[in-house]
Amino acid sequence: MWTYHNPVAITFGAGCFDRLEALVGERPYLLVTYPDAPFTALADRLTQRLGPAAGTVRDVVPNPDIADLSRQASEIAALETRPEVVIALGGGSVIDSAKVLAASAQGFTAVRALLSGAGAPDDWQPLPLIAMPTTAGTGSEVTCWATVWDRETATKRSLDHPALYPEAAVIDPELMCSMPCALTVSTGLDALSHALESLWNRNANPVTATHAVVAARTILEVLPALVAAPGDPGLRSRMAEASLVAGLAFSGTRTAIAHSISYPVTLRHGVTHGIACSFTLPMILHSLADADGLTGRGLRDIFGPDLRVGARKLAGFLDGLGVRLTPAGYGIDAAEWENILAEATDGPRGRNFIGAITTLHPVSPLAA
Ligand SMILES: NC(=O)c1ccc[n+]([C@@H]2O[C@H](COP(=O)([O-])OP(=O)(O)OC[C@H]3O[C@@H](n4cnc5c(N)ncnc54)[C@H](O)[C@@H]3O)[C@@H](O)[C@H]2O)c1
Ligand SMILES: [Fe+2]
Repeated sequence: MWTYHNPVAITFGAGCFDRLEALVGERPYLLVTYPDAPFTALADRLTQRLGPAAGTVRDVVPNPDIADLSRQASEIAALETRPEVVIALGGGSVIDSAKVLAASAQGFTAVRALLSGAGAPDDWQPLPLIAMPTTAGTGSEVTCWATVWDRETATKRSLDHPALYPEAAVIDPELMCSMPCALTVSTGLDALSHALESLWNRNANPVTATHAVVAARTILEVLPALVAAPGDPGLRSRMAEASLVAGLAFSGTRTAIAHSISYPVTLRHGVTHGIACSFTLPMILHSLADADGLTGRGLRDIFGPDLRVGARKLAGFLDGLGVRLTPAGYGIDAAEWENILAEATDGPRGRNFIGAITTLHPVSPLAA
């Protein structure tokens, strides 16, 4: 028996930024975005259409930290007009921050309770959220969780509740054209990781697996072409679509071992999320060379009949995008690598993994 449910209303297409007006209606809104120049211009375009915001959070930085989020929540609590909807305009860090701020509508205590696993207070109701992704990677516009980083304790935590699914996702690939090459690659590889992680997952079902296969095949085809032609709107659109579809896959399964491994790599070695969760994919695929059932069929649909060869081709694909394929490439020595693996297999995401891993060995790349 299995179930699949995703309640997010999706609008997709070049120029659909301008549909926001109809989705927001008359509601006073809170805008959450980055401080960087392209976003100031986008925020202006947004306020021209919607009228002034009840409040704006403009200081989101990559990998949002709990201390910043708590401060931003207090600033919102002091607003003269109470927002009735939150608009996130940015990548995963903005959308995840917006989820946390939506969840703190009645105070930050609810957020702390959810993060500690204590559950939401009885009267808790987050504000509705409209997510407009500007990267093609995290899929956060269709998931009900947010990654919260705590630098003080060097830990990563998850805010996770079905009430945190965005009300709507507005995916306009034109907003992604300004992404520099390194960001296009790292976010695209995050999306690839979501697709594969949902496939080698104990929670996989025919709906998530179908989404995962389509997303992974598209990313393997489109990402190198997009790096060669970053201004191509058709390729941007296909990557945005693949990231969304990968999001729909892992929204039903959550992630697995590659993400579990990635968090200490990001926290301790400063490696960007999309790279930290993708450099292990060939090793993990190789460990599943004899997989059968839904996972085995899905992986062979993507990588061909021999998954050992598929793992080498995947290593070649990543190598071609400039991704280092060994832990040592990120400054991780053998002892730390062993610890990371032990902790990762033990963690909640690691337990979603369908295989059994005691050790992982780098795979030698095979050119496509
Ligand atoms: N909630 C989820 O389901 C989920 C899934 C995966 C990752 N995440 C989280 O998302 C975060 C990563 O998000 P991300 O990879 O989208 O990047 P990001 O939001 O951290 O942004 C990284 C940088 O890219 C810039 N940027 C974003 N869009 C741009 C554009 N269109 N043009 C130019 N610059 C742009 C930003 O200014 C920022 O400096 C991590 O914290 C990760 O843990 C969440
Ligand atoms: Fe991810």
